[in-house]
Amino acid sequence: MYKYTTSSFTTRLGMRPIVARALYSSSASSPIKRVAVVGGGQMGAGIAQVSATFEHGVTLIDVNAEALERGQKYMAKSLARVAKKKFPAEPNVASDWVEAVLGRVRPTTSLSEGVRSADLVVEAVVENIGVKQKLFGDIAQAAPGHCLLASNTSSLPIGRIAEHLDAEAKARTLGLHFFNPVPQMKLVEVVRAEHTGAQAIESAVAFVESIGKAPAVCKDTPGFIVNRLLLPYMMEAIRLLERGAAEARDIDTAMKLGAGYPMGPFELCDYVGLDTLKFITDGWFKEGDGLRGDKAFAASPKLDELVAAGHLGVKSGRGFYDYSASKKK
Ligand code: CAA
Ligand code: NAD
Repeated sequence: MYKYTTSSFTTRLGMRPIVARALYSSSASSPIKRVAVVGGGQMGAGIAQVSATFEHGVTLIDVNAEALERGQKYMAKSLARVAKKKFPAEPNVASDWVEAVLGRVRPTTSLSEGVRSADLVVEAVVENIGVKQKLFGDIAQAAPGHCLLASNTSSLPIGRIAEHLDAEAKARTLGLHFFNPVPQMKLVEVVRAEHTGAQAIESAVAFVESIGKAPAVCKDTPGFIVNRLLLPYMMEAIRLLERGAAEARDIDTAMKLGAGYPMGPFELCDYVGLDTLKFITDGWFKEGDGLRGDKAFAASPKLDELVAAGHLGVKSGRGFYDYSASKKK
């Protein structure tokens, strides 16, 4: 029986309370100093930003130079929001701070060069098993032998991503699942696959705490904790819309005002990315451990139609809502 507490976060590793630490200073307790983030999309840029905020040296790697540029813009915009609150009366100090944090993130399109001296690599590329397996092989070849290898996958088994690695590299491989928007969301799921070593979990938890986040350690099961509960809810909201029970706007209003959610399910789908949502649910329906054929994850005509039209949500300017006039719904 666990004691219920609202005053502090606790972890499953000995139920240690997360020690309140000085905001934005790096933690001496984490052996991880250099972080490489692979994938400069919304998640990768967020992970790079937060790591650099807490004084880690960061390389941000993407196959696409334009994605790196977009990632830098995302970080600059997000950091400006943070800086405005951190230094409310000192605009010059705020902009110097933003520049200093951005200066700790080095963008590159070269994987081997980007991971060469990393203590931790966090992969945040497209949700595709083949792409991730190939990437982990390449990363394991190019990164130092002590480096932790982490995936930010939403839905794919860490065990499968690491399938082709040798036993020693597998022991250093785990899931580090961040939440969107990374600068704001406090949780990181630390996912222990069957092959993950205890030392890797310990170091990963220390890293998560060093960047001001709360770790939740869990096993390598589909959706880990949050997505296993969140995805059925999001898909059921889409079915409600498909059945004509209510308009998207009204369903969103209902869940925000009637259930206290910060975003309605359609705002959340658009925020996550409809392509990512489809990758997750299609994957689970076809081959999710214990979820194969589960009708909660069956294809949705509405979702398929939007993705086929390139309406991927906030990131493409249109999804269930149109963001072309205002960036925010
Ligand atoms: N960078 C920096 N700060 C940000 C930010 C960003 N990208 N986005 C929001 N913020 C900050 C704002 O500055 C503001 O800070 P203060 O309260 O200190 O002033 C705060 O967050 C609230 O922002 P807003 O007032 O603009 O808007 P809001 O109140 O609607 O909050 C939100 C925005 C935090 C995103 C909130 O709507 C929310 O929590 N939504 C739910 C998000 C969620 O469920 N995420 C998980 C998705 S699932 C997932 O990620 C896993 C997966 O694998 C798919
Ligand atoms: P995104 O589409 O915004 O970005 C993906 C990036 O990966 C793109 O910039 C792309 O150019 C790059 N990329 C693709 N293949 C690559 C490769 N081989 N090497 C380097 N870069 C490559 O996607 P995202 O929303 O940031 O999601 C990334 C990962 O994070 C996915 O696994 C997703 O499931 C997971 N995730 C997403 C969310 C979310 O809310 N969007 C939340 C948690 C986890």
